Order: sequence, then structure tokens, then C-alpha cells
Amino acid sequence: MDVDEILTGLYSEPGRQNPYPWYAALHGHGPISTVPTRAEHSTITAVAVGYDLVGQVLRDPEWYKQAPPGWQEQEILRTFNSSMMFVNPPDHTRMRSVFAKTFTPRRLGALEPVIVRVVDTLLDRMAEAGADGAETDFVADFAYPAPALVMAEFIGLPESDLDWYRQRVDWIDEFLDVAGKTPQRLTQANQAAEELRAYYRDLIAHRRARPGEDLISGLVEAVDAGDVALTEEELIGNLIVLFNASFVTTVYMFSNGLPLLLAHPDVVAALPGDDALARGCVDEVLRLESPVHFLARAAPRDTELGGVPVRRDENVLLMIAGANRDPARFPEPDRFDPRRDGPPSLAFGVGPHFCLGAAVSRLEGRLALPRLLARFPRLTVTRPPTYSGSLFLRGIDKLFVSTGG
Ligand code: HEM
Repeated sequence: MDVDEILTGLYSEPGRQNPYPWYAALHGHGPISTVPTRAEHSTITAVAVGYDLVGQVLRDPEWYKQAPPGWQEQEILRTFNSSMMFVNPPDHTRMRSVFAKTFTPRRLGALEPVIVRVVDTLLDRMAEAGADGAETDFVADFAYPAPALVMAEFIGLPESDLDWYRQRVDWIDEFLDVAGKTPQRLTQANQAAEELRAYYRDLIAHRRARPGEDLISGLVEAVDAGDVALTEEELIGNLIVLFNASFVTTVYMFSNGLPLLLAHPDVVAALPGDDALARGCVDEVLRLESPVHFLARAAPRDTELGGVPVRRDENVLLMIAGANRDPARFPEPDRFDPRRDGPPSLAFGVGPHFCLGAAVSRLEGRLALPRLLARFPRLTVTRPPTYSGSLFLRGIDKLFVSTGG
């Protein structure tokens, strides 16, 4: 099969449902392949799946994030470009350092009891909903609210705003997918960005008047005191991106992870009380079923990558989910093995943009999964899962289970 056929298959509906055979086919062509037929206006010149090569590009600070043409005219892209995730040094370094300071081990430690409280409350609700053998949706009852409630508390968003917020997150995520740049999706993403900006402006004014212990209050105080190099508009852009980045990704860590774990009863049985195994499960779930499937970087100059020429300012699509199943780095790459030793997966990226919240998600997974499985030892999946349909953020949106109660 040639690379055009593979990419067509990968982007198709069935490919989004199960992209792994397509990544395996790409590996058959080597770590990187030229994209033979480019879509109109596309700047993607090559697609990389080799673990080492993808890591090499992500680590290289000269390979940069390219804003799409005309970004100044779109609210959503202006918002992205005022946040660390979408910009390059020196702006990236400046903004990231402000937020990195807030993700201290002390703050993470303080998050532990919050996670345990949120998880236990949700498990109680799941037990009630699933009493008498009733089928429940694990995503609606647990995988979605757990990270949303934890992050809302961490950032300082009122819980009552979360349903409203979710719709805006969905509009933005739909726009981010490979096929997401339709006029309708752009309009919705612009609307979401506009409404979220207004939302944060109000929240900031509120916290300025009545500061609390939350992240927003702390950041507003630091910005107002001139202690940090961040404008209010950048604060807003970064808060939008921070919550967006923390949210669906972690939902999918749980929803993609549960069927994998349940398919391995020996692991489930050994999990309670084995913290090293819990960590291994989280990392292996993220390797095998990465919530984020690809990233992109643009070349700083005319160059060659793995024998493939890449012109200056052209992009390489970096298939991190494919790299996480590189047989050269992960023997039997499709096998779930939480005790595997090997290189870290690229699920959180690597290099200057390495996920700022990796420790938060890992902590959520490590604390929640053993509690969930200890609470419901007879938990079973009752129907085939429904996937998001997106390749960029791929995960299970509906997962019906029986708690066995
Ligand atoms: C399992 C859950 C998560 C996954 C799979 C994930 C994945 C990623 C990936 C792949 C990147 C790199 C983007 C790039 O290189 O272009 C990233 C960046 C980022 N993530 Fe996460 N993430 C997760 C959870 C979180 C959480 C919980 C937070 C916030 C608490 C968060 C905040 C961020 C931020 C702010 C960035 C941008 C960092 C920068 O550009 O310097 N993420 N994430």
C-alpha cells in the first residue's frame, strides 16, 4: 500500500475508529514518509511515525509551531496565539515559566485530597446509578466529571459553569481535528473563543475584587503587581488553553483505559495496593491509547529528516500515537503490558512544549484507577464503545458498563 492510500485510510471514518493498522502500515515505509499528494493549501510535507525521529523533532527548539495563514482575523486563532501552547520562544518561554511556577510539588500534593474526594463522590454516584444491575455510561458518570471537577477546583472555576463550558470546549476541539477546518466549525470555534474570553474577563474582575486561594486569584494578583511578564489578554488566552488541554485528554485517559484494564483481570486483581503497578497502568494506557494522536512542527530551514527532504516553513505531521507503537522501541507494540520497561511514551509530547499538566493527569489516574476497580470488582463493559470520531483527540465518548451491583 502506498503512503497516499495509507493516509486516506487513516483519515477515513473507519481509520479514525481504529487508526492502528494504518500506523503499522506507515511504519512499514520507515520512520518518515513524504506526503505524495497534498491536500489543497496544506503545508504538511511529510508524516513521521518513528519514535526516535518524532522525539528528535519535538526536542529541537528550532522546529517551530506555525500559525495558520490569516490567524489574526479569527478570534479562536488569536486566542491560541496568545497562549504558550501555540507560540515559540521567547514568548513561549516567558508564558510557560509563569504557569510552570504554579505547578509546584506543593500544589500537586494539595491536589491529592481533592482528587480522592472527587473520585470517591463520583464512585458513590456510580454505585447508586448502577444499583440493581442498571447499565450506566462510565464517561458521563466518571471519566468526564472527574478531571473536569478536579481542574475546576485547581483553576478556580465554579462547578455550576461546567456544563456551559463543556460545549465551548467541544466546539474548539472539533475545529482542531484534521478535517475540522470547515466554515461551520470555524464559526463555532470563534464563538466559543469570544464567549470564553468574556467569561474569563468577568471571572478575573470578580477574583480581583474578592481573591481566593485558587490559581486565577494568584495569577491575577501577580499580574496586577507586575510580578510576572504576562498581559491580562495573555492570562485569558492561557487559562482557556490550560483548561481545554487538561480536560478531554484526561477524560480519554480514563475512558480509553478502562476497557484495556478490564481485558486484563490479572492486572486488575493486583492493582489495589500496588502503586508501582498503578503508575505503570497509567503510562501504558497512555502509550497504547494516546488521547492526542498527532502534533506538527515546521522546519526552520531547508533540511532533510530521515532521508526525506523538508523545505523551510513546511510542516511535518508527527504521529505521536503511531510513534508510541513503534516496534523498534516497544517490542510487541500492540500488547498491554503495564510492567514494560522501555522509553517513555510520547503521549505528553517531549521537549520545550512537554505537557505542563502531565503530573496532574498521572496523579489522577494513579489515584482513581485502583479506587474504581477496588470499589467495583465486577465492573464489565456491556456494549461496544463509541469513539469521538476525531483523530487529533481520539477517545471513547460513551462507554456503557455494569457495576455488578
Ligand atoms: C492524559 C492527559 C493529557 C495528555 C495526553 C496531554 C497531552 C499533551 C501534549 C501531547 C502536549 C504537547 C503539545 C505540543 O507539543 O504541541 C501537551 C501540552 C500541554 N498540556 Fe497536556 N495533556 C494532558 C493533560 C493535561 C493537563 C491535566 C493539563 C493542565 C493541568 C495540561 C496542560 C497542558 C499545557 C498547558 C500544554 C502546553 C505546554 C506548552 O506549550 O509549553 N495537559 N499536553
